[in-house]
Amino acid sequence: MEYALTATKNKARAGSYYDRIARFYDLTFKFNGYARSLDQYFANHPLPVSRGDKILDAGCGTGLLTLALLRAIRFPVSITALDLSSTSVVAARKSLYYSPGRKRDVTFTQGNLLCLPFADESLDLVVTSGALEYVNLADGLNELARVIAPGGHLLHFPVHPSVIGVLLEIMFRFKSHPPRFVKDETEKHFRIVHQYHFPKKEMIGWSKTAILAQKI
Ligand SMILES: C[S@@+](CC[C@H](N)C(=O)[O-])C[C@H]1O[C@@H](n2cnc3c(N)ncnc32)[C@H](O)[C@@H]1O
Repeated sequence: MEYALTATKNKARAGSYYDRIARFYDLTFKFNGYARSLDQYFANHPLPVSRGDKILDAGCGTGLLTLALLRAIRFPVSITALDLSSTSVVAARKSLYYSPGRKRDVTFTQGNLLCLPFADESLDLVVTSGALEYVNLADGLNELARVIAPGGHLLHFPVHPSVIGVLLEIMFRFKSHPPRFVKDETEKHFRIVHQYHFPKKEMIGWSKTAILAQKI
């Protein structure tokens, strides 16, 4: 089984695996209740953001998490949603176009999360789901931490080892990082505020957790 390590800091593949499977990914994750689980999570765990805050969705894919952010945040913010796959970015733009809500708050861009187009300590919140599994974890967290201001937050949704996790690894060609390693690497830059385990009755509960962490 070949895993698709998508990028290093200086080199990203011209076009990601997701350029080929963006539509399949979008349909699978719309069908499995992912967006509903995100909505419930945000309803019970209000995001640590204020009006006008700068937010990044790193590895936004087809925009499922970006749109969940937009539904959860009731005041104007500035969200940049970035992905290596230009096909995914096009799909995400289309989803935003057809969604209700404040479209002006979101800008989509193609890019590598290991080499972000932001100044040091310039963002208030970075969210990421399903993308760190495609890169060297230490490099990924290092770059996300670089752009977050002290006191700002990282919300990530690491895949944890499970039968469903292995199935997803095969379908989407990623490699999940061991939970202990995720915690240790996160704590190099952040203080963990909470780790949430989704209920097992939700599909996401079989494969992912949520970690909210504050930049030290
Ligand atoms: C499993 S999908 C998750 C998409 C989205 N975050 C969501 O929650 O639905 C993983 C995404 O990470 C993107 N990705 C992988 N490596 C990346 C990198 N180095 N920089 C930016 N995006 C990357 C892929 O192109 C893909 O769209």
